Amino acid sequence: MKIAYVVSGGDAPGINAALFHFARHSARLGNTVLGVQGGFPGLLEEKFQSFGVSDLLPWAAMPGSILASSRVPVLAQEDAREKLADVLRRHAIDALVVFGGDGTLKHIPPLLASWGVACIGIPTTIDNDVPGSDYTLGFDSACNFALPIIDGIRATGAALGGRIFTLETLGGYSGFLALEIARAVGADAVALPEYDCDIPLICDRLRWTAENKGQALLVYTEGVKNKEALLAAIPERTGIRIRSTMLGHAQRGGTPTARDRGFAAQAALAGHNALHHGMMMGMTVVQKGEFVLHEGTLDGFEPRKPDLILYDKINRMANG
Ligand code: F6P
Repeated sequence: MKIAYVVSGGDAPGINAALFHFARHSARLGNTVLGVQGGFPGLLEEKFQSFGVSDLLPWAAMPGSILASSRVPVLAQEDAREKLADVLRRHAIDALVVFGGDGTLKHIPPLLASWGVACIGIPTTIDNDVPGSDYTLGFDSACNFALPIIDGIRATGAALGGRIFTLETLGGYSGFLALEIARAVGADAVALPEYDCDIPLICDRLRWTAENKGQALLVYTEGVKNKEALLAAIPERTGIRIRSTMLGHAQRGGTPTARDRGFAAQAALAGHNALHHGMMMGMTVVQKGEFVLHEGTLDGFEPRKPDLILYDKINRMANG
């Protein structure tokens, strides 16, 4: 079997580990592995690279992706889709393993199936916002990336007391990262794009905590609504200027954690087995806490939202 690997959209820690595990199973089963450089535009340009287990081993623990990704939606054009069918036919590719988010995993597998090419999709994004899977590759690593940084903030906060700190996480328009990080570190307030943020409440909590507990921490997502208003209101209403940290894109480059490497290993094993049993479309997902190989696309699942009860608890928990 000839299997090509494509990374589409935002990279996430754990992709290299998954490629390594896929290569191990390919070696065991005698499959040919073809990496694609540059996502779907790269595939159209036939940018293939073959690799084996020993090539991937040194990269397995690294964040990022040895296969360059792309965010260009090149397959939106009809002529590009025809060209893709031709590339796959000429290279006799039997299956694609695709790392990507919501859009990629919805649209690509049916297209491939219509040409008789199988597809295993691996929900991949640090944002953890793919409908149909409770977990996406890279999320845990991106959460863990924030922890030593917050530990550092708190160390200086203990030495120079009375301060208000803010930490901005990635996550675009999805608050899973900020909420999980806020819970893990016991943040005093959290602001997410999915829910309206009560600015006076957050300011009052931060002031009270800074004055009574020595320091206060707000964790928020980069895409939170009214971000400028929130950040401007804190010093105005509390009289304390904010000390801010922005994780930025570094957060996508955290060391892959055991959870992400484990998910990568499960995805590779289940994905290979599914292809060998003739499955045409399969998604490696987590549902109800269990790893599952879901047959078909991830179409029709409800959009995922961060836990509202937890969000409220963090923001409204009694002071003290
Ligand atoms: O891939 C998801 C993500 O990392 C989001 O968290 C973030 O908002 C976005 O990508 C950043 O995109 P780009 O790398 O294109 O600036």
